[in-house]
Amino acid sequence: MKFSKVVPSYTSKYGCRLIWEGDDEDDSDAVILNKNELDELVEILKKDVSGTITLEDLTSSIMVNSDVTQFTLQNHRHLEVDTFDLQKKVLEFAKVPHEPKYVHISSKEFYPSVWIRKEDKDQVKFSPKKTPQKPSLLQAILSSKSEKKDKKISEADVFRIFSTRRSTRKFSKDKVEDWKIDKILAAADTAPTAGNFQGLKIFYIKNKIAKEALVEAANKQPYVNSPVLLVFCMDPSRVKLKFPQEILDKFSLQDSTLAASYAQIAAAGLGLSSIWIGMLDEKKVQTILGTELRPSSILCIGYPDKKKPPKSRRKLKDLIEVIE
Ligand SMILES: Cc1cc2nc3c(=O)[nH]c(=O)nc-3n(C[C@H](O)[C@H](O)[C@H](O)COP(=O)(O)O)c2cc1C
Repeated sequence: MKFSKVVPSYTSKYGCRLIWEGDDEDDSDAVILNKNELDELVEILKKDVSGTITLEDLTSSIMVNSDVTQFTLQNHRHLEVDTFDLQKKVLEFAKVPHEPKYVHISSKEFYPSVWIRKEDKDQVKFSPKKTPQKPSLLQAILSSKSEKKDKKISEADVFRIFSTRRSTRKFSKDKVEDWKIDKILAAADTAPTAGNFQGLKIFYIKNKIAKEALVEAANKQPYVNSPVLLVFCMDPSRVKLKFPQEILDKFSLQDSTLAASYAQIAAAGLGLSSIWIGMLDEKKVQTILGTELRPSSILCIGYPDKKKPPKSRRKLKDLIEVIE
């Protein structure tokens, strides 16, 4: 596993992702740094000194030494990089402004470096500057800021997240932190896809007009205008397998649906809630997004106005038929 590059974070141009790659194309790793963390790292590397940066989870850290920089990450393997290599790449990255595009996920993100413990009170604050943009959906990606303290995050294991997740059709006005959105997108990217061709594209909609238009395109369901709005689209052209088009279409529908499902579970794990929107007018959504890709679902995410108990389901014995 070798340190490979520095790329912009998904949601903001003020942080970055540090990427490691192995020999196998599947073998990659990433650490997400927010603006403060990146600034601190740049400062240390510019001065050519040693130093330690504590990451947002207040447990993980980056230790810059003269020869090697070590990443000690909570519940994760140890990563390291030659300091000279890191210095070159990070300083080059910091020199130029980075324009995030629509979120088109392509690289694997296994380790966004944030996971806040219950007892941690103060979170790192960051307040990126606004940049004037063309009045387009690109604004969505370009104008985020957050100064909120984090909500309590469940430490429950994945099964508890499954069993307590509930849909929400009423969101509170609390802003969803950028790092949480990054983690949700990164989680969507970990979903399996047919042949690993990632036959999907995710549109992350921040633009107010687009959000309102999507309400209309989703049978006027008002909660579609939610704090975080993701539209999952199928992209069968990415699936380079020698199968009939019908199969490729089906694969991309499954790719897109699975990614949305991973995002939904990730949101629940981060103390957020969501509503899955399947009732949509494909053509209208395509026009709003300016894409020919067919949307499979919309995922609306935010803090729930109030927590609800899990909904009942039919008995497992009715759901499952055992063939012996
Ligand atoms: C394929 C699919 C389509 C859905 N479409 C909508 C929708 O258009 N509008 C809506 O309010 N809820 C929609 N839902 C949410 C379901 O109503 C909700 O998940 C279900 O009632 C179970 O509740 P729970 O998620 O709280 O367990 C959809 C869910 C799925 C899986």
